[in-house]
Amino acid sequence: MKPLTKLLYFICLNNFLEMCMSTSEHDQVLSITVSTQDHVDIMQNVTSHNGTVLWQPASPSYITTNSEVHLYVQSTSVELVTQLLQQHQIPFTVLVENTEELVEMQTRNDSSDPRSGGVYHERYHSLEDIYFWINQTGQDHSDMVKVIDIGSSFEKRPLQVMKLSGRRGAVNRAMWMDCGIHAREWIAPAFCLWFVNYALRFYNHNSEITEMLNNMDIYILPVMNPDGYKYTWTTVERMWRKNRSVLKEGSECVGVDLNRNFDARWCTKGASNDPCDPTYCGQYPESEPEAEAVAKFLRSHKDTVKLYISIHSYSQMLLFPYSCSYDEAPNHNELQLELVKEASTKIRRYYRNHYKYGAGAKTIYLAPGGSDDWAYNLGIKYSFTFELQDRGRYGFLLPPSFIPQACNEALLAVKIIALHVMKKT
Ligand code: ARG
Ligand code: ZN
Repeated sequence: MKPLTKLLYFICLNNFLEMCMSTSEHDQVLSITVSTQDHVDIMQNVTSHNGTVLWQPASPSYITTNSEVHLYVQSTSVELVTQLLQQHQIPFTVLVENTEELVEMQTRNDSSDPRSGGVYHERYHSLEDIYFWINQTGQDHSDMVKVIDIGSSFEKRPLQVMKLSGRRGAVNRAMWMDCGIHAREWIAPAFCLWFVNYALRFYNHNSEITEMLNNMDIYILPVMNPDGYKYTWTTVERMWRKNRSVLKEGSECVGVDLNRNFDARWCTKGASNDPCDPTYCGQYPESEPEAEAVAKFLRSHKDTVKLYISIHSYSQMLLFPYSCSYDEAPNHNELQLELVKEASTKIRRYYRNHYKYGAGAKTIYLAPGGSDDWAYNLGIKYSFTFELQDRGRYGFLLPPSFIPQACNEALLAVKIIALHVMKKT
């Protein structure tokens, strides 16, 4: 018997059978306060159980004493999990009482429906919509946008990069931004689309974006993990994180964490070599076509790309290397004091919202194999991972009405950093 089953069996013996079998009507998200090592052990058991998906932290192995765990629980497991928590006196609150309602808000996409946001960039979009938009935008703005195929996903979907440039001659400086490396983080692709739209609309109207586009090329990969993104839109697994690569025929678990698949102390502490873990590192560095395509592109453009940004959610953080070790990056003080601290202060001032900032390993957890550390070691000395809104109220189910502010906050940080990089390189 698996440990959780054993615990549940115990509860069932001590309760009425009908209570034990009863279920909640809805999938829920619980916020659980973990204090003791006992709690940690129980939570690691619970989260390896099928009816739950960890929101925070990303993997059961990251659960520590004195931490806040956000756990998605399927309706059929709500009763079991909450009973277990009560039995062991582990305090919890219900963060989201009805996740279906929020999923419905995120996927309601009919612009003729007055309840859905009218504006394209204030809504979430299916993968097909995004591909259509990328190519339409490339056609409509052929003077500023070039669509480049940099490879394809495991399921053979194209990885399309939008190259944005001002109306001017060639320059030898560039920045890169990818969104949606993790499937369930829907605000990330939404930000890439938002950013492209903003750049095209405000070129020659806003001085900062104009300066950026006049002095560098901006490479945008709106959906780095298209297979995973599609999967979260079309199956019940809204909370899927990894890509969809099938290791061997018949292997029971699918998918590699693309942000553990890069060659930066690959698969050391903070990543998992278990294919069933949400932070599975893959069979070798760049084993995944999505990671390989990005790495290949950046290797071949490393003399021009001066800034790397990867967009994730949630938790509101502005991070820079290293995440793969506790070492301090050579330009740590510049990244910390002149860039992310500055950006966080401005976000607080203009938007009254709090963003944590710092080196990845010290700010969240050790996480080797990340794209930001790899890009940094390639020589891109300005390398960042942003975690956008929120801090857990809605988590991955952030309603569309929050898209504008979430994107404006991130845009502010991108501008501050990009303008600094242009001055320094
Ligand atoms: N939440 C992100 C992850 O777990 C954090 C990324 C920070 N950077 C990194 N290289 N791990 O992937
Ligand atoms: Zn992520």
